[in-house]
Amino acid sequence: MIAAVVGLQWGDEGKGKVVDYLAKEFDINIRFQGGPNAGHTVWRDNNKYVFHQIPSGVLNKNVTGFIGAGCVFDPAIFFEELSEIKKFDPGIETRIKISRFCHLIFPYHIMLDKIKEETTHGIGTTKKGIGMAYEDKYARIGIRLGDLYNPETLEKKLRVNISRKNLILMEIFHAEPLSDNEIIEKCFEYAYKLKPFVVNDLEFLNQAVLENKKILFEGAQGALLDVNFGTYPFVTSSHTITGGLFVGVAGAPMRIDRVIGVAKAYTTRVGMGPFPTEDKSEFGENLRRFGNEYGATTGRPRRCGAFDTLVVRYAARLTNAQELFLTKLDVLSYFETLKIAVGYANAREFDPFYAEELEPVYEEIPGFKKDISHVKSFDELPAEAKEYIKLIEHYTGLKVSYISVGAGNDAVIKRI
Ligand code: GDP
Ligand code: IMO
Ligand code: MG
Repeated sequence: MIAAVVGLQWGDEGKGKVVDYLAKEFDINIRFQGGPNAGHTVWRDNNKYVFHQIPSGVLNKNVTGFIGAGCVFDPAIFFEELSEIKKFDPGIETRIKISRFCHLIFPYHIMLDKIKEETTHGIGTTKKGIGMAYEDKYARIGIRLGDLYNPETLEKKLRVNISRKNLILMEIFHAEPLSDNEIIEKCFEYAYKLKPFVVNDLEFLNQAVLENKKILFEGAQGALLDVNFGTYPFVTSSHTITGGLFVGVAGAPMRIDRVIGVAKAYTTRVGMGPFPTEDKSEFGENLRRFGNEYGATTGRPRRCGAFDTLVVRYAARLTNAQELFLTKLDVLSYFETLKIAVGYANAREFDPFYAEELEPVYEEIPGFKKDISHVKSFDELPAEAKEYIKLIEHYTGLKVSYISVGAGNDAVIKRI
């Protein structure tokens, strides 16, 4: 079984929880794009874990996590994350592998991301240096994890890169330069500490496929943040759609048996950019309050609004998702009325080129006003909640195969 979990909105759909839940049935959990801009939350025994780079399924002891070549990798954040997870499972280290081809995020990437954000070029990034690390990768001046093991070339390359970045920092942004010696020394330290995690990608993946291992790919961000098909330029710098996994992992399997799209029962977005159903009135504020909609990576308040069936339909087509894992339905327990966008007054479909102008048309239904967080089967759900799910299925064309009704690992209603 080879499956992929992908976000069908603007990120933060609950992918971490979904992956942790599904990973029980898998052997290998792979991240194929993005980096520490991701914040995937998993709750276990009242403890919260936020995964940034490490795949979210590794709390399951049957699972080995692999960080694929399409990712950008920040060693400092990795070791912080690792020490958090070690509290849960001291033996976790042996189950985490990293591609040699991942491009590294350096302090100059982070510094430039921050400075750019704070000047007129900002789009509301997570300030983790993501765009700058991918920029260097495609400009063919990036440094990969595997390059750490060639110290002479590494030092030369780093000195050139740092002097170039220092020029930009000083001349354009009038900022302090970074010390090259400090960065180089840190790299040698990381080379030593990361050695046990680094694998030969092809050997690792080919072996897994040969042994018929069950593989779960874990997308970060969401389809609407995809660098090609999202709401460009208000997107991230990687391929968040299912296609991203084929280039993000060496020897990726040709056949994906299931693509599981994840969407929240309403919509959120963090950072700038178009969001047709954004609601700045009490409805949106209540979604933020009841849903505790604050960024897992940056703590920023998330913008909130109604579920947009056309956004999810567009995302499902981009990702080839055939089924939907609907999350946070419990958050809607508190509303008198539920509303859902079923069309646009001025367009037939969601179109990222005109996303700013789209005028949603809503259907309203009565709310269910009941605590559903302990519900275990679809039949037990209040009639209004069932109606809401049926509307989502009707307008997105997707089967809702799982419904999440709480942040915990077991708060899932399975419909298949
Ligand atoms: P991700 O980036 O897609 O993994 O999502 P985040 O972790 O950034 O944000 C999702 C938030 O919702 C986290 O705080 C989760 O713990 C929480 N969450 C996930 N599923 C549910 C659910 O069904 N109900 C509630 N109330 N919270 C949930
Ligand atoms: P997870 O995996 C939500 C958004 C940022 C910004 C844009 C570009 O937790 O769903 P970047 O730092 O990537 O250059 O920022 O993308 N963004 C996310 N929004 N969830 C995420 O990840 C995100 N990762 C990036 O807010 O608008
Ligand atoms: Mg998140």
